[in-house]
Amino acid sequence: MTSRTGRHFLQIPGPTNTPDQVLRAMSAPTIDHRGPEFAALTVRLLDIVKPVFGTSGPVVIYPASGTGAWEAALVNTLSPGDRVLCFETGHFATLWQEMATSLGLKVDFVPGDWRHGADPEELARRLTADTKNAIKAVCVVHNETSTGVTSRIADLRAALDAAGHPALLLVDTISSLGSIDYRHDEWGVDVTVAGSQKGLMLPPGLSFNAVSEKALAAAKTARLKRSFWNWEPIIEANRRGFFPYTPATNLLYGLSEALGMLDAEGLPQVYARHARHAAATRAAVHGWGLEVLCADEREYSGSLTAVLLPDGHDADKVRRIILERFDMSLGAGLGRLAGKIFRIGHLGHFNDLTLAGTLAGVQMGLELSGVPVDPAGLGKALDVLRTP
Ligand SMILES: Cc1ncc(COP(=O)(O)O)c(C=O)c1O
Repeated sequence: MTSRTGRHFLQIPGPTNTPDQVLRAMSAPTIDHRGPEFAALTVRLLDIVKPVFGTSGPVVIYPASGTGAWEAALVNTLSPGDRVLCFETGHFATLWQEMATSLGLKVDFVPGDWRHGADPEELARRLTADTKNAIKAVCVVHNETSTGVTSRIADLRAALDAAGHPALLLVDTISSLGSIDYRHDEWGVDVTVAGSQKGLMLPPGLSFNAVSEKALAAAKTARLKRSFWNWEPIIEANRRGFFPYTPATNLLYGLSEALGMLDAEGLPQVYARHARHAAATRAAVHGWGLEVLCADEREYSGSLTAVLLPDGHDADKVRRIILERFDMSLGAGLGRLAGKIFRIGHLGHFNDLTLAGTLAGVQMGLELSGVPVDPAGLGKALDVLRTP
């Protein structure tokens, strides 16, 4: 039976632990979403949310999970029958392309092995072959939460530019925003899709589209049907500090607080902290004698690590034992990785000792599950953490 004293360790790669000060901010009384106090909050939020995306353009906020923001990115920019190029980096990339297909888009799905990110060279080949510019958008999951692999968006952008191809670039940053370096404007991204429940340290329930000038222009002629997701009336109402529907008032209080925390730490420091915790986690995994799922060190994720178990060992059993004995939740293997891997989330509201405790729990759970591991693994992580 799960022991429930002290705090539960929520080490899945999102939803992440919500800081107490964010929870406290969200517990303030709900105000009139058509009143002046709310308008002032919205205008300020829509401004202070921009740096985390690396944009000076508009950011649309939906009271929805990340899946809604995926749909918004597609329906605002594309028309029925448009060709889109998607990369099979893992479970979430697969779900996004299924959504695109179900909306009436023609998807070219570049096959992948779920251990690598989207390949800039393959993108260059596909775009160069597309002499008639039939491809209208390229969809990439920046940080594939199901695998712990981060695609190199700057290199993908360079491939688009080198090919002189006009396709829009749509990027899912649901598990990278606020934890892995990201630059919407500098990387020429047209729509950035994000969610509240990971690097932004909020509960689930908000999602985002950061939108480029080019995407706004595409929205004028895009013919996919849209109503709730339509950017135009939202951006219009936002100018006055309002939304064309009832916004998630208390989540917005939380967003304001969380953005303040990220700003106080400094985004470069936030990214460096995540990269250091990811390095310490990999040191433990390699020290145990196990394999990290990500096969290219240029693509190691800063926000989560997927651990591959040796043949004959069940990752779900390891997770179950860790939950029952140590009250810690780890991410399951999704889709074709079910039972083969578990995922350690090390993002959001997180520090050195949270990671040390997490990795101690993982090591004990592996030992109790009969997975052969070298117990020196934990010490390898502590060596990284000991170094400032
Ligand atoms: C990379 C990625 N994209 C999309 C989603 C779907 O978001 P949601 O579950 O908030 O709808 C997730 C959820 O974990 C995700 O990690």
